[in-house]
Amino acid sequence: MDRLVFIGRLVILLQTITAEQSQKKLENISDIHKKQFNKEPNWIIKAPGRINILGEHLDYNGGNVLPAGVNRHLFFTIGSSESETPLIDAFAIMTGERSIISTQDKYNGWRAYFRGSLLALEEEGYKLDRRVEVAFYGNIPLGAGMSSSAALCCGLILGLSHTLGWGLDRKLIALLGQRAEHIIGANCGLMDQYAVLFSRKGHIIDLDCSSMETSLIPWKLKDTALVLVNSKVDHQLAGTGSIYNKRRAVCEKALNILKKDDSNLHFLAKASLDQLESLKTHFSKDDFAKVQYVIQEAQRVEKAKQAIFSGSAGDLGQLMYSTHEGLQHLFEVSVPETDLLVDIGRETDGVYGARMVGGGFGGCVLFLMEASTSKEAAKNIYESYLQKTGIDSPGFEVKIDNGISIAPAL
Ligand code: GLA
Repeated sequence: MDRLVFIGRLVILLQTITAEQSQKKLENISDIHKKQFNKEPNWIIKAPGRINILGEHLDYNGGNVLPAGVNRHLFFTIGSSESETPLIDAFAIMTGERSIISTQDKYNGWRAYFRGSLLALEEEGYKLDRRVEVAFYGNIPLGAGMSSSAALCCGLILGLSHTLGWGLDRKLIALLGQRAEHIIGANCGLMDQYAVLFSRKGHIIDLDCSSMETSLIPWKLKDTALVLVNSKVDHQLAGTGSIYNKRRAVCEKALNILKKDDSNLHFLAKASLDQLESLKTHFSKDDFAKVQYVIQEAQRVEKAKQAIFSGSAGDLGQLMYSTHEGLQHLFEVSVPETDLLVDIGRETDGVYGARMVGGGFGGCVLFLMEASTSKEAAKNIYESYLQKTGIDSPGFEVKIDNGISIAPAL
C-alpha cells in the first residue's frame, strides 16, 4: 500500500530531526532550494502535524472531533520555472532524493502523495501549466498518527495555488488534500486536513463533521502538558490502510441498517445506543461492537468539551482512557504496544489520561500530564516502555500551534 510505503520511508527520513535542528533548517531552506534549482523560491510553507484530543474515527461518521495543530511541521519551498512542461521537480532534503513527478507515471512513497495531489487538482480543473520546483523536509514523526500525509498534501496544494495564482480557499484545499489520499487508497475523513489548515495557537478545534463547521475552544488546561510517545510500531506490517478502509465500510453498512428504522438519520455518530440496541439482531457481534464504539465516542466528545471548558484535566484524562479502551476492545484499531503505553500511563504519577491518536495500528500515544512533573513522568514512561519492549522512544511535549502558513521567500 503506497501510503504505508510512504510512511515507512519517511519515518526513517525525518523522525530524528529535533525542533531546534528544524528551526535551523528553516533558516537555510531557501539557500538549499537555490543551490538545488539555481533559482530563488517564491514561497515558504509551514504545515503542522496534529493531535486529536478526543473523537477518533468520528470524522467519516459525521461526529464532532477535537483536533489541534502542534509545533511539529513539514516545511516546503516552492518556485516556478520558465519551462512550460507540466511537472514537479522535487527535492526531499533529508534524503537528498531529487525526483521529477508528473501525473503520467506511478510512484511509491512521498512521490505518490505529490502525484495524488496533482491528480486531485486536475479533477477540479487546476492543471500545472509549467514546471514547478519544490524542496521539503520536516520534524513530524511520520506514520505516527500525527497527520504527516495531510501536511504533505495540503502544504503542496497551498504552495501550488500561490505559485500558479489559483487562489484556492482553505476549505477546497482540505477537500483536495483528502481527495489526494483517496486516490492513493486511504479513504480518510477530513479531520486531519482541517487541523492542518484551520488550527489556532492555544485552541482546540471543535469540528462538526456533519456540517464541516468549526469553532475554537480555548485550551484552558493551563497547568497541563501534552506529551506524545511514539510506539514505533511498523504500520506496514499492521496493514494500516486496508484495515482503516474496512472499518469505514463497516460504519457505512451500519448506517444503512439503522436508516431503515429512521430515515432522518444521516450520520452514524448521531445514532443513539437505544436505536442500535433495538436493531441488534441485524449486526454481527463484531460489527455491533464497532458501532457501539462510534456512538459512545460521540457522547464522550460532548463530555470532553465540558471538561475543557471547565478546565478539568482529571475528567478529560478519564475520558481519554475510556476512548482508548473503546479503540482497543470495541473498534479494534489498537496494538499491544499502544495498549502497553496507555497502561504504563495509568501507573505513572502525574498522568491524567492517555490514549492512542489517529487511525491506529501503532503510532503515538497522547498523554495528558500535570505540567510541573511532566518531565519526570515522561522519563518514567520512557524507561518502563524501553524495559518492557526494548523500544527506545523518548516522549516529546507538543504545544498547540497555528495552522498552515505561507510567506514570500526572503
Ligand atoms: C486518520 C484519518 C482521519 C481520521 C483518523 C481517525 O488520521 O486520516 O481522517 O479518520 O484516522 O480518527
